[in-house]
Amino acid sequence: MGRLSDKCVIVTGGANGIGAEIVNKCAEHGAKVMIGDVMDEQGEAHAAELCEKGYDVQFQHLDVTDRNSWKECAEAAKAAFGKLNGLVNCAALSQRCQGLDDMDLDWDWYKLIDVDLTGPFLGMYTVIPYMKEAGGGSIVNIGSVAGLTAQCGTNGYTASKGGMIALTRAVAIQFAHDWIRCNCVCPVTTVTENVRKIFEQYPEAEAAERADCAYPRLGLPEDHANATVFMLSEEAAYVTGQTLCVDGGYTAK
Ligand SMILES: NC(=O)c1ccc[n+]([C@@H]2O[C@H](COP(=O)([O-])OP(=O)(O)OC[C@H]3O[C@@H](n4cnc5c(N)ncnc54)[C@H](O)[C@@H]3O)[C@@H](O)[C@H]2O)c1
Repeated sequence: MGRLSDKCVIVTGGANGIGAEIVNKCAEHGAKVMIGDVMDEQGEAHAAELCEKGYDVQFQHLDVTDRNSWKECAEAAKAAFGKLNGLVNCAALSQRCQGLDDMDLDWDWYKLIDVDLTGPFLGMYTVIPYMKEAGGGSIVNIGSVAGLTAQCGTNGYTASKGGMIALTRAVAIQFAHDWIRCNCVCPVTTVTENVRKIFEQYPEAEAAERADCAYPRLGLPEDHANATVFMLSEEAAYVTGQTLCVDGGYTAK
């Protein structure tokens, strides 16, 4: 029996980066996984690769900002797996470092809030009825240490991640009596393929990020995937409304 063998989970942003690793770990621990992402080709390929290894992973196009797209994704997961009792809200856009005075409002505020905060909200709004029907569930919102600490020039991102942490608590309290848990996992700078390319271009950025971290390395996608598996699993049966910083001590400083 895997740690997630009774779990049927949607992972948004599961085509790339941290989300892709969350999909891998969920599958390895026995979950049935629906990848929901706008990167269709990459998401399909990731699901196919895992299916070849014998895991039950499918892909459904999902734009997290679109209510109908969420409904289609939840219906597809229920049709494929028979129920839906897990949701990982990982899809997000990153903010360009742009001061308040020279922000592009359309992108750096409205778009960021739409994808990074309204998107996860719509996910919970859509999926919670399916969780009630399944007799309970677990939601894991992937936040950021940026939601807890000030970072210069990341207004929309910081606000969306801070909002996500607050929303996590509100949802946890509202649905505790339905056996639905809701927690937030907050990564620090994490070396995904995209971040690695940025560091290759700007080695000084990597040195600065490392200097900020208490632990002598930056985050890895598997650090957050492991924390997410814990939050989805019955090992976390009495954990709800919490924010778990997976940050090598960044927020402890
Ligand atoms: N990588 C880091 O350093 C870091 C640090 C702190 C927090 N995080 C958080 O971790 C999560 C994953 O980050 P990542 O670095 O792996 O990102 P990434 O850019 O590698 O992947 C994000 C995924 O989200 C998808 N996506 C974007 N917009 C979407 C939409 N509208 N609908 C559906 N899918 C959409 C993308 O296609 C992509 O697959 C994010 O929530 C991010 O804020 C990352």
